Amino acid sequence: MTFLFTLVLIFAAWALIILVFFRAEIQSTKERDPAARGIAEIVLLYPGLHAVVAHRINHFLWKMKVPLLPRALSQLTRFLTGIEIHPGAQIGRGLFIDHGMGVVIGETSIVGDNVTLFQGATLGGTGKETGKRHPTIGNNVVIGAGAKVLGNITVGANSYVGANAVIIRDVPSNATVVGVPGHVTKQEGKKMDLMMDHVHTSDPVMQHMKDLIRRVKTLEDKTSAR
Ligand SMILES: CC(C)(COP(=O)(O)OP(=O)(O)OC[C@H]1O[C@@H](n2cnc3c(N)ncnc32)[C@H](O)[C@@H]1OP(=O)(O)O)[C@@H](O)C(=O)NCCC(=O)NCCS
Repeated sequence: MTFLFTLVLIFAAWALIILVFFRAEIQSTKERDPAARGIAEIVLLYPGLHAVVAHRINHFLWKMKVPLLPRALSQLTRFLTGIEIHPGAQIGRGLFIDHGMGVVIGETSIVGDNVTLFQGATLGGTGKETGKRHPTIGNNVVIGAGAKVLGNITVGANSYVGANAVIIRDVPSNATVVGVPGHVTKQEGKKMDLMMDHVHTSDPVMQHMKDLIRRVKTLEDKTSAR
């Protein structure tokens, strides 16, 4: 009975801390998740929010150069939420991690304000770099489910990374990138013409297929016009 009471007390204190100190994160969850029914639900049941709160504590301990504990707490958080954020990662205000399971944020990642990450998103290294080896994510970026952003690259502010994309080069601001490897499909609200874009051509076989389809269509149009 005492154990249960202590558990409830710890959980209530945790919820109170979130409520008082994490208004920006609660607000961003409320704004960006249409399924969120109210503050109580967000504070008590959102693993993304709990992971961010735990990270703030872990990051503080990391900066104080406390040995082992921040890593241990980050692993405990991963066990409880399915979200792994290295204590060294620098995270801005209003990060919203939706669903959460499988999200990984590497040690030298820098995440701006009001970023959204869906389940399975990875801010990882390529395995070939040392030092700053994880991405820098600009303000208001949305990273889709299962997307991998790899290496010391920058995703510009207000950009969208499509679900399951693999991003290994810088992404400009106000752009949408999809595919493996990622290519820009939209910039400043305008659709990119991939036929004219030789820099972001993602898949040469697909490109030839598209060329062939276009030529067949032109021939069909010519023969049907006769
Ligand atoms: C990329 C995304 C943001 C849409 O951006 P958009 O600019 O509105 O894109 P559109 O829907 O106009 O599609 C543009 C092109 O990209 C393609 N596309 C869209 N999303 C894609 C993706 N994730 N992977 C590959 N191609 C994709 C479309 O088929 C379309 O191709 P086409 O021009 O050859 O017809 C969205 O599809 C996405 O992936 N969001 C992630 C959301 C998420 O993870 N949700 C999980 C909730 S649990």
